[in-house]
Amino acid sequence: MADSSTAVVHHTGHPDVTKRDFLKLITGASAAIGTAAVAWAFIDYMNPAKDVLALSSVEVDLTPIVAGQGITVLWQGKPIFVRHRTEKEIKEAEDVRMSQLIEPQPDSQRVKPGHAQWIVLIGICTHLGCVPLGNKPTDPRGDWGGWFCPCHGSQYDTSGRVRHGPAPANLGLPPYAFESDTKVKLG
Ligand code: FES
Repeated sequence: MADSSTAVVHHTGHPDVTKRDFLKLITGASAAIGTAAVAWAFIDYMNPAKDVLALSSVEVDLTPIVAGQGITVLWQGKPIFVRHRTEKEIKEAEDVRMSQLIEPQPDSQRVKPGHAQWIVLIGICTHLGCVPLGNKPTDPRGDWGGWFCPCHGSQYDTSGRVRHGPAPANLGLPPYAFESDTKVKLG
């Protein structure tokens, strides 16, 4: 199956995701996301402000995301990581001692009850705003198996918690809810 994951690298280190990056990202992720998000990309290209407001939520179909893989979708101008964690990744995230964390937070507070296999994160490095790598199978994921920021080397674990700086904080959590076991609504 073709890889539907997408990650955006900011070669310039500029914190904002460019429109070209948006389109690239949407193209890669379209197999796994709802039509609303795809429509958003093309409408937004012409008239951003109005349509960011109009589409304040995005539905994500989880069915195509196999265990161990993640995708990036756009929600309100932000890249959102949705990863299907393996049993091993969940256990690693749950077993970490809080004293080992830069910003201590239990994994249970970063996932929805009963859906520990899914981690949903704002894919913006908390250092200077690059988009970390780690969703494609070929991406570097860092020493903790989560995400690696190519700009200055920060690393995040499979819960999106920062494990190696210079990033000072964990990846953020967007508002979202499960509409079913295979569908998440962002926003
Ligand atoms: S932006 Fe500096 S490490 Fe990510």
